[in-house]
Amino acid sequence: MQTIGIIGAGQMGSGIAQTIAQHGMKVLLSDIDRPAAERGKGAIDTALTRLVGRGKLQANEAEAILARIEPVADLAPMAAASFVIEAATENESVKQAIFERAGKILGADAIMASNTSSIPITRMANWTPDPARFIGLHFFNPVPVMGLIEVIPGLATSSDTIARTRALAEELGKEVVEVQDEPGFVVNRILVPMLNEAVFVLGQGTASIEDIDKGCRIGLNHPMGPLELADFIGLDTCLDIVRVLYTTTGDSKYRPAPLLMKYVEAGWLGRKTGKGFYDYSGEAPVPTR
Ligand code: 3HC
Repeated sequence: MQTIGIIGAGQMGSGIAQTIAQHGMKVLLSDIDRPAAERGKGAIDTALTRLVGRGKLQANEAEAILARIEPVADLAPMAAASFVIEAATENESVKQAIFERAGKILGADAIMASNTSSIPITRMANWTPDPARFIGLHFFNPVPVMGLIEVIPGLATSSDTIARTRALAEELGKEVVEVQDEPGFVVNRILVPMLNEAVFVLGQGTASIEDIDKGCRIGLNHPMGPLELADFIGLDTCLDIVRVLYTTTGDSKYRPAPLLMKYVEAGWLGRKTGKGFYDYSGEAPVPTR
């Protein structure tokens, strides 16, 4: 059975772990410490229990999936992994420290991948022992549901690494798009400026939170409006991505909306903190402006 190491047990890391375990592979799940990794597994347990409750999964299947996920206290056991996927905070110094530690234990033939949403792959490859075996593997949230993976080779990524990474993505039942290492890749380069623009529209008083979302949901046939989706992704993550687009291109069209910065400064980061453009503390979300 193939073993995959995952570093970061938050929203994305636990979604990736769930998806991999659902496809019969073993997962070693780590975070800053073992309790944080255990919390990631707990979130997967909750998601699987919901699927069992809705008759989408048998209880014994859920048990088998959970049994394939092992929270670990440090990276050492990942020496046995064929892939190590980093899904930590979108912060360069955090990622650099992780790659330097993970590089010391990485198996001789193993591939290291980052689920970064916008940090250049070629830059991060330099923090790893072998840039030929480093690649971007960008999942979408919620990972078990979304059908796409962006595969992003860096300048030095080998063709063998690309082929093995595509094979893993396909084994997980995902469609693959291969994308050059440019800021935001394809999907976030298009999506995040749209979310940022929605916050400009809100800040200028053009329409209410609910009407901006309703307009895009119905007028564009999107499953979620842009402000609802920004809350779902996390407003800090959206701001991080738009800042990467702005600083790496130097193009003012990517400047962050002031109101987005204000929400992040307030600690209103969206669903994960219970409040963003909507307040999630009651039964139904209520707009915060
Ligand atoms: N594991 C497995 N299946 C799950 C699941 C989980 N954790 N969570 C939900 N599902 C399944 C449900 O069982 C359901 O299956 P069914 O259609 O067979 O009944 C299906 O997913 C839909 O779930 P729900 O009925 O609970 O919810 P909705 O129908 O309201 O859909 C949504 C929720 C899928 C999140 C939908 O609103 C959506 O697609 N929103 C847009 C999401 C999006 O754009 N994501 C991309 C964000 S950008 C990104 O991630 C990049 C990053 O870098 C920022």
